Amino acid sequence: MIGRAGGVLWRRPTKPDMDGWQETTMIGRLNHVAIAVRDIAKAANVYRQTLGAEVSDPVAQPEHGVTTVFITLPNTKIELLEPLGEASPIAKFLDRNPDGGIHHVCYEVDDIRAARDRLKAQGARVLGDGEAKIGAHGKPVLFLHPKDFCGTLVEIEQA
Ligand code: CO
Repeated sequence: MIGRAGGVLWRRPTKPDMDGWQETTMIGRLNHVAIAVRDIAKAANVYRQTLGAEVSDPVAQPEHGVTTVFITLPNTKIELLEPLGEASPIAKFLDRNPDGGIHHVCYEVDDIRAARDRLKAQGARVLGDGEAKIGAHGKPVLFLHPKDFCGTLVEIEQA
């Protein structure tokens, strides 16, 4: 059974020597790639004018400490992020990457709690208190430690 975002999370073990669960498909579509920038108007213009993409107006998201612009591509989205406020979660990233850069990738899952439990069972670090928060797209999200995922901050979103 394959669901909209990815499919079944777990299947009962078929072999008695497995630890109770067998890995099956979990992540589905690439929902978006997020790019942190210092000047979102300038960045939006690069995507609109130079690259000819469909670009939204900026939206301030004070609860997330960022201003966002969404770029809709035929197969996924790009999310531009500009720091908003004093404690923006992308401030340190921009200190390390003054020209901006890819901040995270977001994969869709069918069931975020089941995904979290599976990830934790495999030793992956879930950031924050481990409870899904409502993300910039209005859907439940969690972030996973970059050191556990090839040096890339990973967001999972219940699609
Ligand atoms: Co995101």
